[in-house]
Amino acid sequence: MQSKQSMHGSWANRWIFILAATGSAVGLGNIWKFPYITGENGGGAFVLVYLVCILLVGIPIMMGEILVGRRARQSPINAVRETAVEAGRDPRWGLIGWLGVLAGYIIFSFYSVVAGWVLHYIAGMGTGQFVDIGSDLAGKKFESLLASPDQMLIWHTVFVLMVVVVVAGGVNKGLERATKIMMPALFLLLLVLLGYSLNSGSFAEGWSFLFSFNPDALTWDAVLVALGHSFFTLSLGMGAIMAYGSYMGKKDSIGATVLTIGVLDTVVALVAGLAIFPIVFANQLDPGAGPGLMFITLPVAFGQMPGGQVFGFLFFLLVGVAAWTSAISLLEPATAWVVERFGFKRLHAAALLGFIIWLMGIASLLSFNHWADIKIFSMGIFDFLDFITANIMLPLSGLLIAVYAGWVLTQKMTRDELALGSSGAYSAWQFTIRFIAPVGVAVIFVVNLYDKLA
Ligand code: PHE
Ligand code: NA
Repeated sequence: MQSKQSMHGSWANRWIFILAATGSAVGLGNIWKFPYITGENGGGAFVLVYLVCILLVGIPIMMGEILVGRRARQSPINAVRETAVEAGRDPRWGLIGWLGVLAGYIIFSFYSVVAGWVLHYIAGMGTGQFVDIGSDLAGKKFESLLASPDQMLIWHTVFVLMVVVVVAGGVNKGLERATKIMMPALFLLLLVLLGYSLNSGSFAEGWSFLFSFNPDALTWDAVLVALGHSFFTLSLGMGAIMAYGSYMGKKDSIGATVLTIGVLDTVVALVAGLAIFPIVFANQLDPGAGPGLMFITLPVAFGQMPGGQVFGFLFFLLVGVAAWTSAISLLEPATAWVVERFGFKRLHAAALLGFIIWLMGIASLLSFNHWADIKIFSMGIFDFLDFITANIMLPLSGLLIAVYAGWVLTQKMTRDELALGSSGAYSAWQFTIRFIAPVGVAVIFVVNLYDKLA
C-alpha cells in the first residue's frame, strides 16, 4: 500500500501541491464572503473567533483529510472506505465521502452563480460601465443583474465550462498547469490592490475594524458562522483537499504543508479585508452591507477613485481567478470517482458532472428572480443552499472526519502518514483531532440549536 500512486497522476513537487491546495482554499470565501460576514458580525471579535477555529479545528482536520487521501491514493469516497478497511473497520465509513461529495455539489451550484456575477463585473469594469456611479445606480445595476436570469445564465454557463475544461485536462495537464499560471497571477494582483488600498486614505480605520476586539458584537450565531466559514474557506469537509492529497508525494510533510496552506489562506482573507474596508470607510459606505458589499459598495468606491477603473478591473479579475481555482477543486473529487468507479474517460466524467452542476445552478440563479417567492425555512433557494452547506453540512462532515481520523483509523496509520517525528507534534495533533475539534464543533452546534428553539 505504501508506495502506490494514484491512477489520476501526482503533483510534480511539494510546492505545486501547496499552490494547488492554496488555489482551492483561496476563493470567493476569502474575498467576497469573509469581508461581508466580518462586516455583518461587527469586525474584531468575529475575526478572532475565526482565527481560533482555523487553528484548532481547521488545521488538524485538514491534516486528517490529506492523510486519508494520500494513504489510499483514490477519490474521497473510495479513500475513506479503503482506509476503513485497512484499519479493520466498517467500510460504511465511506459514507463520509458521500456527504462531502454531496456538499461539494451543492456548493458548486451556487458558487458558480456568484462567480458568474464576478465575470459580469470583470466585463463591466473593463468596459468602463462603473465610472462615477453613485450608490443608487450601483445598487440598481446589481439588482438588474439579479433580476435577469438570462444574464446570469450566460455567465454561470461560461464559468462551469471554464472549470470543466481544466478538470477534463487531468491532474498534470489540467490542474497543475492552471495552478502554475493562475496562482502567481493571484498573488501579484493581491499585492497591487493592497498597495492601492494602503494609499486610499482610511487604512487605519479598516485595520481597527478588523482587529479591535469588541465582544459585544459577538453572538452564538456569529460563532457558528465563524466556525462554518473556517471549513468553507479551507475547502474542508467535501473531499476537495482529500482528493488533492491523494496526488501528493509520499515523502512530503503533511504538517508543514498544511500550515503553509492555512497561513496563506488566512493571509489572503485578511489582506482582502484590509483592501476592502479602507475603501469602504474612505467613501462613507456601510461595512455591514452583506453579500452586496463586493458588488455594490466596491464599484461605487472604485468609480470615484483616481485609477479606480483599472483597479476595479484588476480586483474583479483577481476574484475571478480565485473562484476558478477553487471551483476546479470542487469538481475534481466527483470526477475522479466517476473515472474510478465506471471507467469513464476523464473528459466524459467532467462534462457529465459539470452538466448536472450547471442544471442545479439554475435553481440558485432563478431564486433571485422568477423563483424568489420559493422559501425554505424562510430563506430563498440560494441562501438556503449556502446556509445548509456552510453552517450544517461542512461542520458535520468536518466533525465526522475528525472522529474518523482521530478514533477510527489506527494510530499506526496516522503516525505513519503524518511522520511528525518523535516530537510532541503527533500527540498535539491527536489531542486536537480527538477532543478539541469534535467537542468544539458539537458544542457550537448544540448551543445554536438551543438558541434557536429557546
Ligand atoms: N475554499 C473556497 C473559498 O474560500 C471554497 C471552496 C470550498 C472550494 C470547498 C473548494 C471546496 O472560496
Ligand atoms: Na478560502
